[in-house]
Amino acid sequence: MTNGSTSLSMNKEQTLTPGEYQEFQRFLQDACGIQLGAGKEYLVSSRLGSLMRHYAITSVGDLVRQARTGRNPRLRSGIIDAMTTNETFWFRDASHFEMLTGHVLPELTGRTAGRIRVWSAACSSGQEPYNISMAVDQFQRANPGRLKGILEIVATDISASMLEEARRGVYCGLAASRGLTTDQRERYFTVREECLEVRPEIKRRVAFRELNLTRGYELLGRFDVIFCRNVLIYFSHEQKADILERMARILNPGGYLFLGSTESLSAHTDRFEMVNLLGGIVYRLRD
Ligand SMILES: C[S@@+](CC[C@H](N)C(=O)[O-])C[C@H]1O[C@@H](n2cnc3c(N)ncnc32)[C@H](O)[C@@H]1O
Repeated sequence: MTNGSTSLSMNKEQTLTPGEYQEFQRFLQDACGIQLGAGKEYLVSSRLGSLMRHYAITSVGDLVRQARTGRNPRLRSGIIDAMTTNETFWFRDASHFEMLTGHVLPELTGRTAGRIRVWSAACSSGQEPYNISMAVDQFQRANPGRLKGILEIVATDISASMLEEARRGVYCGLAASRGLTTDQRERYFTVREECLEVRPEIKRRVAFRELNLTRGYELLGRFDVIFCRNVLIYFSHEQKADILERMARILNPGGYLFLGSTESLSAHTDRFEMVNLLGGIVYRLRD
């Protein structure tokens, strides 16, 4: 593979010209908001080669044309799957779950006896929403009877294959160990051969749905807490501002927003105030 201005080899039959790369960048931005910067041709070739071979497509130009027709939704979602970064692990940014059990849930259960709704807005393979459900379990054990209504977790992602894994809730290899203590493993999972399966009482609170954050999501209803972690980084400033504005509109008054620990809001919206809690940061919807 070369990185020159003429063409870039994908394999013997496939090449990626600068024009095709630009077309692909536009397609990806339209399809899921992801901004693929200059010089990322290697990502396209390394991630799409096998999909192209599977569909016997020999150029990225053809790939984009076929995906744009919408006649093959599997091709379109295969491209999105291949180009999105799905990395996640158990109890990522652990302070967020401590804030949830130590501050947010006590406040919400003090304020309402009704339903509490939490949205995990880019849930990948499910660790984040299941961790929220585990935090709720921990809160209930520490505060029996305090949570009077139903607590519902809606978990969404653009990637159909990640959602399939998330719904299954079975984790093997590194995915079964990264971030988990022995106590958490024993309490929240059952062992299935070499793998771990999330226990039904933790799964039960979570409903998974496919959703593109750059499209409308008002139909999801209103939420008290939103986890939108480690996904905004892929979007332009305008898209981030738009997504955050639409999230602000579907948060209940005083609702909370968690972002990834390396992400910040200030440049994109003034709808939230930053709250420092228990060693971490959360954003609260302004009155
Ligand atoms: C790095 S993972 C973050 C997972 C989890 N929130 C965490 O912090 O560990 C980013 C996820 O965002 C999803 N994603 C990317 N673009 C998206 C979009 N436009 N709409 C919804 N989800 C998207 C990807 O499929 C991927 O699962």
